[in-house]
Amino acid sequence: MSAEKISVGKTGIETYSISNDNGIKAEIITYGARLHRLFVPDKKGNPVDILAGFDTAEGYKGENPYFNAVIGRVANRIGNAEFTLNGKYYKLAENDGKNCLHGGKEGFDRKIFTANLPCNKPNTVELSYVSPDGEEGFPGKLSLTVSYTITDDNALKISYKAVSDADTVFNPTNHAYFNLDGDFMSVLDHELFIDSDTITVSDENLICTGETVNVKNTPFDFTVPKPIGKDIKIPHVYFDNARGGYDFNYVLDKSRNKKLPVAYALSHKTGIKMEVYTDCPCIQLYTGNFLDGTLPCRRSCGYQSTLCLETQSFPNACNVSSFPSTVLKKGEEFFSETAYVFSIEK
Ligand code: GLA
Repeated sequence: MSAEKISVGKTGIETYSISNDNGIKAEIITYGARLHRLFVPDKKGNPVDILAGFDTAEGYKGENPYFNAVIGRVANRIGNAEFTLNGKYYKLAENDGKNCLHGGKEGFDRKIFTANLPCNKPNTVELSYVSPDGEEGFPGKLSLTVSYTITDDNALKISYKAVSDADTVFNPTNHAYFNLDGDFMSVLDHELFIDSDTITVSDENLICTGETVNVKNTPFDFTVPKPIGKDIKIPHVYFDNARGGYDFNYVLDKSRNKKLPVAYALSHKTGIKMEVYTDCPCIQLYTGNFLDGTLPCRRSCGYQSTLCLETQSFPNACNVSSFPSTVLKKGEEFFSETAYVFSIEK
């Protein structure tokens, strides 16, 4: 059991480590408040690093698809990089064609957070960042603290606490890229379960249109666990829009029992099972369809070599009045928590 600062890099990025006595250990860096490595024991007890990433903390400063970072202010795509709040029009940074993806040109993944090891919370690192009014076009000064904890019962818990000095929109997530085989070859053999039969429909630019669709008994249905690759080659316009894979937002049942996982992924190779618990209304399934193996990662990350299960609110909610609101009112406290819980396949 420990929480410690393990290094400070040339450019001032700090690396922290948190672990429990069962061999689960996370390394977290202040650049993007991101997970750097995550070791989980496999069925033989050997530690496996299940995250994509670079060798060094500085590596993330180059081109990278938000590897394991905290995403904000707003995860996923805001259509036309614009929205209106309280009658006022806001123009955001465009960084995905005409749209705003994952917070804009310099989202939270590109910010240096201030770290703290709270003495009253074991195996925890807290990372704070104050986003100035108008950053990337978003209103209000937003103060955020992200907390990572490894618990004795093998959970990596991520919580987000935020407050803004003016009405704003806020929808954070963590963009961890997992491969539970640990070899980063492919995730298509991973078994996946998602406790939702509804996705938000997105257009050819992956902008959520406001419609939802029931996907029971379609290739998008994971309510009955199946290998990720099982139906991925079935021709469908949704796959065409998402570069031949899964990149969809699943809507979770509001009245679900929050003590049950909303999703799990399982590698039969290592036996590592990862369950996801969250209080968020949605979860994005992304199978690394934009990766092509050209980034200098510590293990080559090719097309569909990784899996993201990003808990979030409804994408593009600031432009879709029928979606639950992502408005954070002035002075109101935002809190959200997600846990990735690890076990070995029985
Ligand atoms: C998210 C999106 C994808 C893609 C990646 C980053 O998960 O859903 O469409 O933009 O981020 O490459």
